[in-house]
Amino acid sequence: MSIEKNEKQKRGYDELLQGNRDWVKNETEKDPDYFNKLAAGQEPDVLWIGCSDSRVPANEVTNTKPGQVFVHRNIANVCVHSDMNMLSVLDYAVNVLKVKHVIVSGHYGCGGIAAALSNQQFGLIDNWLRHIKDVYRLHSHELDRISNETLKVNRLVELNVIEQVYNLCKTTIVQNAWREREDLEIHGWVIDISTGLVKDLHVTAKSSENLGEVFKLDESKVR
Ligand code: CO
Repeated sequence: MSIEKNEKQKRGYDELLQGNRDWVKNETEKDPDYFNKLAAGQEPDVLWIGCSDSRVPANEVTNTKPGQVFVHRNIANVCVHSDMNMLSVLDYAVNVLKVKHVIVSGHYGCGGIAAALSNQQFGLIDNWLRHIKDVYRLHSHELDRISNETLKVNRLVELNVIEQVYNLCKTTIVQNAWREREDLEIHGWVIDISTGLVKDLHVTAKSSENLGEVFKLDESKVR
């Protein structure tokens, strides 16, 4: 690496550490007890499942503070029932933190969705994007009628969020929680990065009522 490039890289890294010190200073000036309160524990009402894209940070988008939103992010906000990472976050949020809202939040112009719509190979990630190709397959009758590529990507962004909301509803975690309490809602959102505004897709689920019959689970016999 050239000396100049090395310097630039170090500066970028040092800025992160300086940024951290500035943040601590700002928060402590506003409230000297701020970090003591944060350290005492968390009681978030919301689980956010969003895209890893650097432009859609959960707290900034919802104007919330540390402590208010429990967060899980992956490429294209996919919720797969064999993903131990997602299931662990969901289980902890629903059964320990007792969050009241789970929000699957996609965003227009999502690179993961665009990649899934293409025929290009991207490497390992192609296996992850397969889940989105499956969403496409479910809705190809609608998507194939859209000739504008941007509009097609953005519609698949919406359909992907809706499918992931259903995927969460199909988990034993959510279905058992609904059996125990009535205050758990699963929502689907899309963020428009060009305006910053959220579009609520109005697919909020509060029970297993609208799931296909085969996905409705009886009470567990092993409990
Ligand atoms: Co994205």
